[in-house]
Amino acid sequence: MRLGIISALAEEQQGLIDAMPDATRLTHGMREYTSGTLWHTDAVAVLSRIGKVAAAMTAATLVEKFGVTHIIFTGVAGSADFGVRVGDVVVAESLVQHDMDASPLFPRFEVPLTGLSQLPTDRELSRQLANAARRFLENEPGGAKLHCGLIGSGDQFINDGVRLAALKDALPELLAVEMEGAAVAQVCFELNVPFAVIRTISDNANEDAATDFMHFVKTVASRYAFGILRNFCHG
Ligand code: ADE
Repeated sequence: MRLGIISALAEEQQGLIDAMPDATRLTHGMREYTSGTLWHTDAVAVLSRIGKVAAAMTAATLVEKFGVTHIIFTGVAGSADFGVRVGDVVVAESLVQHDMDASPLFPRFEVPLTGLSQLPTDRELSRQLANAARRFLENEPGGAKLHCGLIGSGDQFINDGVRLAALKDALPELLAVEMEGAAVAQVCFELNVPFAVIRTISDNANEDAATDFMHFVKTVASRYAFGILRNFCHG
């Protein structure tokens, strides 16, 4: 396995790069790719930057130029469900591009010419990642929970309860919203690369989202990404 690890935020990636004793760096397409051994796993870590195109570009480059065989995306997300709270972790079973709408040519949410509106993640990789997250959360104070299910991605930071409610009406099983995962899902589906997405909830996608997001990213995000990936690589 050669594992591509995509993070959206520098805070999440820093600890990982520090844990690669043999790190080598290469800049390509405005991104820095760091290759090395991460707790005995051959890995390449990179910051995607923000949004679906940025994430798709990064995932395709990891596969085509860096030869990764598996991809994990780590990041934060807004909650889209009352049962999913700030500090909880969501592992995607499938992802939807919630701003995709080519109707009436194709049904709303369907990615044209794939026949899919919900893109499934790799079951085994997601199972291993969920186990790693569960073990991490067991040692965290505060009783944070792990959820597995549908994550929605769109080129919008959602900070509006009304907008979120409208989205939830159309996708009742939605657990969280972010801006990259479903783009990585489409690239991995088309290139036949197993992938998984894990997100820590930083905010409730409502009017307080921006403030909550900034606070969470500064204080908590890096510890989660580091702790969960260390458990994952140790098996
Ligand atoms: N990532 C973290 N919080 C988010 C939100 N509220 N909307 C979109 N992406 C996010």
